[in-house]
Amino acid sequence: MGKKSKISSDQSEIKYVLAIETSCDDTSVAIVSSAGFVRAINSQNQDDVHAPFGGVIPELACRNHTMRIGPLIEKSMKDSKMGWDEIGGIVVTSRPGLLGSLLVGVTVAKTLGLVHDLPVLGVNHLEGHLYAPFLSDEKFNLEKNFAEPFVGLCVSGGHTSLVHSTKFGKYKVLGRTLDDAAGEAFDKFGKVIGLGYPAGRLIDEQAQNGNIKAFDFPRPLLHSKDLNFSFSGLKTAGRVKAEKKDLSIEDICASYQEAIVDVLVEKLFKAVKQAGVKRALITGGVASNSRLKARAEEKGKLLGIEVLIAPPRFCTDNAAMIGMIGILRMNQGDRSDLKLSALATKNTSELG
Ligand code: KG4
Ligand code: ZN
Repeated sequence: MGKKSKISSDQSEIKYVLAIETSCDDTSVAIVSSAGFVRAINSQNQDDVHAPFGGVIPELACRNHTMRIGPLIEKSMKDSKMGWDEIGGIVVTSRPGLLGSLLVGVTVAKTLGLVHDLPVLGVNHLEGHLYAPFLSDEKFNLEKNFAEPFVGLCVSGGHTSLVHSTKFGKYKVLGRTLDDAAGEAFDKFGKVIGLGYPAGRLIDEQAQNGNIKAFDFPRPLLHSKDLNFSFSGLKTAGRVKAEKKDLSIEDICASYQEAIVDVLVEKLFKAVKQAGVKRALITGGVASNSRLKARAEEKGKLLGIEVLIAPPRFCTDNAAMIGMIGILRMNQGDRSDLKLSALATKNTSELG
């Protein structure tokens, strides 16, 4: 933290942080312990706001964050039954994301830091996703002490990357998408077939009763030597097939989803082998996909690789994952100063 900062720079061990996530269209506030226990979490998505447009409208997203963030903070403090004197720091997503959305969270976080004399830290949204499976609450507790080294597959609406971690804060990106993210491949196809936005969960639901072999979709880069992904060709193939009349929506969803899952599972285990690790994490909104979870767990069992996927509430954008990495970093001494701002950049080679 800068010397001139007025935000508290007390370096004693922090037991709880209040975390804020506003990087895209989900407004989320959580109170998380240093062990990753989620004491309170309150989130609101803006699906109803953006659905008529078939995608996120940045101006509407930040306006809605501004309206929602205050009540979510109030409710989280009430749910936690804690006083501000028990909160040791404020963590906020400061990168990457939609600039206006991020700025709402960052400004609120610095204001809370000033008002309550607490240290503040801006963290990377992708690093949050990566560590989401380490969170716990009354309903989700890790059976094993799941830690590095691991390979993480981060699949969301904005990102698709394979990351190798040997210790907290040390990451090597092994592969990434060359065009659309996996979530985009779901969302854009959902728009074409008139399912609504965001379409990932809806396609997942339709696919439950469909035939995965009904349509033959391409599996881009499935057998390429590298660990990169490409989904734009699949999206185009999906659009062409969807133009035909009298298709079974369930069959086309099942076949399309299977193509994405095939590629994700193949590349994940290839990366695990290449990195020489025994653990795989799958995180991000697309990690909620039931077929991806089933296929990855099945293959993991076969190969003797531990596969860990957080429950959907921690997979999609949420403040608990931000609090988790924030408190780990703060207890290593990381602090931001009063000049903390937001970075929209999508440079997936950097998780710091
Ligand atoms: O992580 P997230 O909440 O936001 C970003 O950081 O992008 O991910 C949102 C993405 C959307 O593309 C959504 O369609 C996808 O996750 N998603 C799913 C499922 N649930 C959410 N994709 C496939 N199957 C699901 N069940
Ligand atoms: Zn995300």
